[in-house]
Amino acid sequence: MSDKFKAIVIDNQNEKFTREIKEINKTDLKDGNVLVKIDYSDLNYKDALILNNGGKIVRKFPFVPGIDFSGKVIESEDSQFKKDDNVILTGFRVGEAYFGGFAQYAKVDSNFLIKTPKELDNKKAMMLGTAGFTALQCAFAIKAREELLLGEKVKDVLVTGSTGGVGSIAVMVLSKMGYDVHVVTGKKDKNDYLKSLGAKNIIDRKEFEGESKLLEKGTWDGVVDTVGGAALTKILAQVKPNGIVAACGNAGGIKINTTVMPFIIRGVKLWGIDSSGASIKRREFLWNEATKLIDFNKIQSFTKELSFNELIETFPKLLKGEFFGRAIVNPNK
Ligand SMILES: NC(=O)c1ccc[n+]([C@@H]2O[C@H](COP(=O)([O-])OP(=O)(O)OC[C@H]3O[C@@H](n4cnc5c(N)ncnc54)[C@H](OP(=O)(O)O)[C@@H]3O)[C@@H](O)[C@H]2O)c1
Repeated sequence: MSDKFKAIVIDNQNEKFTREIKEINKTDLKDGNVLVKIDYSDLNYKDALILNNGGKIVRKFPFVPGIDFSGKVIESEDSQFKKDDNVILTGFRVGEAYFGGFAQYAKVDSNFLIKTPKELDNKKAMMLGTAGFTALQCAFAIKAREELLLGEKVKDVLVTGSTGGVGSIAVMVLSKMGYDVHVVTGKKDKNDYLKSLGAKNIIDRKEFEGESKLLEKGTWDGVVDTVGGAALTKILAQVKPNGIVAACGNAGGIKINTTVMPFIIRGVKLWGIDSSGASIKRREFLWNEATKLIDFNKIQSFTKELSFNELIETFPKLLKGEFFGRAIVNPNK
């Protein structure tokens, strides 16, 4: 390979934030022991925050963002990974503390990588990315009610932020698992899209605004919450006895103002999801399950493939809630 390659570089010299598509050098990749030629990356909410102004997440500049990537191993100092192995990276603070996936090459710690399952490919892997991986983690947290915890069968599951990256894939996975999926959205024009993913019932976001009672009618066996804030407060009061809320996001706020009642009267479980730090064992399990639970033709139909230039044009729309579906990033486009 030539030592030079293309990357998005963000910088913050003298408090002036910049983002540029630049040529950088292989010697700029200082971390890790596996060099990967990137096939695809993707756009997540966190990527959009970082591309906007560093999002108070990136602390060292200049920096290459991109929290996910998939690609082929070029050089490896770890015998577990050989040249030409296809690999997936999501999270582990890559794109936050270590140079990330918005580049043609990345070098990372081999402990952060998993091999792309044979039934997947590197493009499909990024059609899911952190969003899909998180959705799978949330769905299995809910399934734990009937499996791991040997509780009642799950029937009614609520998904908030349902037209978003995590939400959309959660709807698809949960309906494939056989559950009745109820979705919350603020987008009135996306009913057909949500139905096509498997949503049975569509609820306006406004229904989850305002004060909630200590306990409301128990309605949900499981909840995938990508929104947090006041909506989560209300939702916790509506969970059935021994139901599980997989809380993964804060698109609507970070504060929850709840009471102990849902937990001590109904045994509600609030299950926090951190996809970035998930163990390799869990990653391998979930990425393999993806091949059984995801309809990739469907995801392809709402996935846009972006060049670096198009990514820079698109991320502000995600922050304004004007983008829906999935965006994969092709560094070679
Ligand atoms: N814990 C983890 O490991 C993890 C991993 C990935 C993502 N996340 C977090 O999960 C959340 C969703 O991520 P994403 O990638 O799916 O983002 P996204 O694609 O931007 O989707 C977020 C969705 O939330 C809804 N929403 C937006 N603003 C809202 C508001 N003010 N009040 C209520 N709902 C609002 C919208 O859906 P509707 O219009 O359909 O309501 C939007 O599509 C983010 O907070 C992200 O940081 C966490």
